[in-house]
Amino acid sequence: MIWSRIAGTGSYLPERLVTNAELARTMDTSDEWIHSRTGIRQRYIAAESESSSDLALRACQAALLAADTPASEVDLIIFATSTPDQIFPSSACLLQAKLGIKGGAAFDIQAVCSGFVYALSIADKFIRSGQSRCALVVGAEVFSRILDWNDRATAVLFGDGAGAVVLRAEPNPGILGSVLRADGSQAKILSVPGTVCGGQVKGTAFVQMDGQGVFKFAVRVLDEVARETLLQCGLGVTDVDWFIPHQANVRILDATAKRLGIPAERVVVTVDRHANTSAASVPLALDCAVRDGRIKRGQRVMLAAVGGGFTWGAAVLEY
Ligand code: ACO
Repeated sequence: MIWSRIAGTGSYLPERLVTNAELARTMDTSDEWIHSRTGIRQRYIAAESESSSDLALRACQAALLAADTPASEVDLIIFATSTPDQIFPSSACLLQAKLGIKGGAAFDIQAVCSGFVYALSIADKFIRSGQSRCALVVGAEVFSRILDWNDRATAVLFGDGAGAVVLRAEPNPGILGSVLRADGSQAKILSVPGTVCGGQVKGTAFVQMDGQGVFKFAVRVLDEVARETLLQCGLGVTDVDWFIPHQANVRILDATAKRLGIPAERVVVTVDRHANTSAASVPLALDCAVRDGRIKRGQRVMLAAVGGGFTWGAAVLEY
């Protein structure tokens, strides 16, 4: 039997760190308001010259190094992003060229903050079916580009970054199971309702959000999909060593962990340092916890994410 297994993780954050205090100098907000409502203290913002595929390249290089794998072995790239470099080619193809490789499949996944979990689940299926032996799965965003910096209700919540894993075909598990869900009838509670038409932006190219609607929906579906995925794997909550939810807001993380009965010390939290980096948030948090020694080989990790669409999903794996 073929399993897909994470051979290495990597991440990258842009150089520019922006604290809540710095934001409060240009908009009517405060560190106290942002931290008490969201747990966020700071975020990283990409330089004007940096694109999602630039951030992804750095994260992928770190993951390949950790996996002791040359880029030439990669036969599949799945790139989760809502802030692609351009309309086309896909950021995955641009990343492939930056990695100096060619020939394997490369495509983007658009599931907003659930993008990495979607991408990981798809890559797992490619590997299990024998169609791929070595996949790069990456979530990277320059979300700062789609924020209205005059809208304090959304601008304070997000940041830029990238996280990646190398997924290899192995005789031992691996990704144990995953569940993906969507409900397009909830599109309006979180969206960027703009497009390009005749060379002009049509609609609004900034994040629009019903904060309380998102909050309630997110907590409910994260709990449901985590339970469904555990059931699929024949596992219970106590069989999981680490829980890595999408890093949207510390109150969503706390409420979800509480509903699932997972103690706070088994939840990986990076939202305080990174803010919400959308598709990059789960692989960034995974890489942080691997590199600081919390997540060890053989331990079970549950990833869960929710995002615009609405989309949501979870994956349980043996690291
Ligand atoms: N600084 C200061 N005041 C603010 C700010 C800010 N940055 N933003 C909003 N306010 C004000 C509002 O204007 C409002 O003022 P008013 O009462 O005078 O009208 C007041 O604070 C309360 O606003 P609410 O929107 O009701 O605040 P709420 O307590 O709901 O908190 C928040 C807002 C933090 C966004 C909350 O709804 C939330 O956490 N929602 C989840 C959304 C989320 O995490 N989104 C991330 C993307 S979604 C995802 O990744 C799945």
